Amino acid sequence: MAAKPVIIDCDPGVDDAIALFLALASPEHLDILAVTAVAGNVPLTLTQANARKICELAGRPDLSVYAGCPRPVLRPLVTAEDVHGRTGLDGIELPEPTMLLQQQHAVNFLIECLLNVRESVTLAMLGPLTNLAIAIIQQPQICQHINEVVLMGGAVTHGNITPSAEFNIYVDPHAAHVVFAAGVPLTMISLDVTNRVIATPERLQAIRALNTPVSAAAIGLLEYYGAFDMKRYGTAGPFLHDPCVIAYLLQPDLFTYRRAYVNVEITSELTMGRTVVDLWQRTNYLPNANVVDSINVEGFYQLLTQTLARF
Ligand code: BDR
Ligand code: CA
Repeated sequence: MAAKPVIIDCDPGVDDAIALFLALASPEHLDILAVTAVAGNVPLTLTQANARKICELAGRPDLSVYAGCPRPVLRPLVTAEDVHGRTGLDGIELPEPTMLLQQQHAVNFLIECLLNVRESVTLAMLGPLTNLAIAIIQQPQICQHINEVVLMGGAVTHGNITPSAEFNIYVDPHAAHVVFAAGVPLTMISLDVTNRVIATPERLQAIRALNTPVSAAAIGLLEYYGAFDMKRYGTAGPFLHDPCVIAYLLQPDLFTYRRAYVNVEITSELTMGRTVVDLWQRTNYLPNANVVDSINVEGFYQLLTQTLARF
């Protein structure tokens, strides 16, 4: 089968970086048209530079990285340095990137690219949904050229930034509202699923044993970022949220999902950014999303380790 055309929108971010490694090592499955950066875990000046650093480390300086929106649609930017460190990639030191940032704004790139593609494109969304929402508002026809939006975000049960909301959706709930209402094929991989994907010491050891510059970087990053999750959640290691999106694209049979209607709370401050998931059809709205409800965690780590071994 031909490689699937994909754009990866991200806010690296440690788990974004691991997701990028997974994608960049899979060229026969994923044809990465571009990486677009958004403000999220850290400000945009850092996320776009981090995206380029990761591409270079992964031996893909040929990829195009675009910077998108520096802030959410309405709300002030909330960042997560407590989780990802001051640089967004704490735990390792990477050289300043030599690959240039593309001049075009990520939103304009998304529009131009999607309007001109022959084959519809899959969007792997690893951060707040600002870039995509603005692109959809500016040029709604792009929706016809989106094969699927696969996003890490939302929570059916508990949030991680507030009791009700997951970080990516909370940071830009208005953008998420636009994307969920856009009528595009959409798969949501929520915290309920990604919180099961714990990088235990044994799983980290398997990655460490690959003994490559990329595996060493992955371990440095995950050891730093792991400290936060282990302390807050009492887990044996960190959650690998964003790599689940790429794993879903590479090996969808690792996951199951249910169709459901999902809407995003944008009114109440108490529950701002909550993804309200109508699993029991308590509304009359038709389902607008595949809501992933299970993952084969062992299969995920096998895929991750085998794929990282290619570097
Ligand atoms: C999400 O929030 C970010 O901190 C991570 O990179 C991930 O995309 C998890 O809630
Ligand atoms: Ca992210």
